[in-house]
Order: sequence, then structure tokens, then C-alpha cells
Amino acid sequence: MKLTLSLTLALSLALGATALAADAATDAAALYNSKCASCHGKDGSKTILSKPVKGLSAEDFTKKMMGYKAKTYGGSKKAGMEKLAAALSDADIKALAAYTSKF
Ligand code: HEC
Repeated sequence: MKLTLSLTLALSLALGATALAADAATDAAALYNSKCASCHGKDGSKTILSKPVKGLSAEDFTKKMMGYKAKTYGGSKKAGMEKLAAALSDADIKALAAYTSKF
């Protein structure tokens, strides 16, 4: 009985983790499309307003976003990005990094 219980617990924890990972992926796409795509394009290739997001590695993306958040990175048009990045959690940035690095 005790074994069944711990197996059930282990299984539901594993399933829970998978569901969380799937949620993070969906959320990153929704987050990107609602908050970033207007300026950067759905696939990150727009350069009218800025440098393309497309082509950045997840590591590079995270460094730049954390830099905007900490106000230690950016060019002449960084004010908007600083505000946007400040509103994102570190987990949001991580999820966005995984999403945008696949563009
Ligand atoms: C209002 C338009 C606008 C929106 C919305 C926007 N960005 Fe930006 N983004 C810019 C501009 C302009 C720059 C260049 C800023 C500078 O001078 O540093 C930039 C720069 C960046 C860079 C750095 C590119 C590089 O290589 O230096 C990243 C990464 C980025 N944005 C990601 C995002 C993400 C993620 C979102 C959504 C949360 C987002 N942006 C939303 C306009 C926007």
C-alpha cells in the first residue's frame, strides 16, 4: 500500500513536471506574440525598430534581456526595452530565450 502510494506520488510529480514544461512553452509563445512581435516580428526578423531577435542564442538573448532589466545594456533606443524587461520575471526571460532561439 505504501509503495503504491509513493509510486502514484512519483508518477503524478513526473506528469506535473511535463505539464509545467508544456505550459512554459505555450506561455512563451503567447507572451512573445502579445508583447514582442509588434516590434520584432512573429519570427524575430524585423529590424525597422531594432536589431533582429532572430539569430540570438538563448544565452545571448538572456544576457541582453537581463542587461535591459538591470539597465546595463542597450543602445540609443533602449528605454522601451528597459521597461518591458523590467516587467518580465527571470523565468519569463528564460522561457522567452528558449522560444526565440528556435527562430
Ligand atoms: C515598442 C517596440 C518594442 C517591443 C514591443 C519590444 N522591443 Fe525589443 N527592442 C526594441 C528596440 C527599439 C530595441 C533596440 C533598443 C536599443 O537601442 O538597445 C530592442 C532590442 C531588443 C533586444 C536586443 C537585440 C540586440 O541584439 O541587441 C532583444 C533581445 C529584444 N529587444 C527582445 C524583446 C522581447 C523579448 C520583447 C517582448 C517582451 C521585446 N523585445 C519587445 C523594440 C521593441
